[in-house]
Amino acid sequence: MPSSHSAPPEELEAPLELDPSDWATQDNYFLLTGLVVPRPIAWVSSVSADGALNLAPHSYFNAVASDPPHVMFSSTGVKDTLRNVTATREFVVNLVSLDQVEKMNFTSTDFPPDEDEFAWADIAQAPSSRVRPPRVQAAKAHLECKLATIVPVGNSSVVIGEVVHIHVDPAVWRQGRVDPALLDPVCRLSGSGYARLGEIFKLPRPHWSDVEGSSGLERMPRRA
Ligand SMILES: Cc1cc2nc3c(=O)[nH]c(=O)nc-3n(C[C@H](O)[C@H](O)[C@H](O)COP(=O)(O)O)c2cc1C
Repeated sequence: MPSSHSAPPEELEAPLELDPSDWATQDNYFLLTGLVVPRPIAWVSSVSADGALNLAPHSYFNAVASDPPHVMFSSTGVKDTLRNVTATREFVVNLVSLDQVEKMNFTSTDFPPDEDEFAWADIAQAPSSRVRPPRVQAAKAHLECKLATIVPVGNSSVVIGEVVHIHVDPAVWRQGRVDPALLDPVCRLSGSGYARLGEIFKLPRPHWSDVEGSSGLERMPRRA
């Protein structure tokens, strides 16, 4: 099926049909980051080979394995974070709560490599346990990572790190786990859009042993 539009239309009267090769890179970027929402934000601290500190947000970020724990973030093009992680093989993912959103955004400025975003944004550091890059002290949780691999994908590099140490602030811990409302994570949308968590609800995971023998939807767990 051919693409229905050669560029993003102002209004859409019929479903958009798109072969991404028909749109400019920037238009595909806005469409993809508008559809894959909300995204969590990895606020990545790293250190260059000669010791310069760096801190930058990455919302192409997620957990990708839990045993042992691994996370990924993706650098579009080659930036200081990617250079540092390639050289020193260590980084820290600082989780971003709403009270840090403006400082987080400020650290996305295209500072030259030898400029320290911690200093520019007046961000207090805390030492890490297993890696050299420091943590953002005010963050509610930190994932200290050792580089596992870097996978080139399109115009980006996907950085996968093994999480070797985790810190969680007691302020966000309730009844044996992280309370998402207390963590209050910043959710990345597209452009300059952000959100915070809305309604939080539970939905038990279905198991074949419960579903087997039923006619189907009668055993579908319901939102509580
Ligand atoms: C909320 C947010 C999310 C971002 N996500 C990414 C991302 O996933 N990948 C990326 O390459 N840049 C991302 N950026 C842009 C980088 O943070 C920006 O280019 C920064 O200057 C890179 O810093 P560095 O050169 O110190 O690594 C994001 C910016 C913001 C504000």
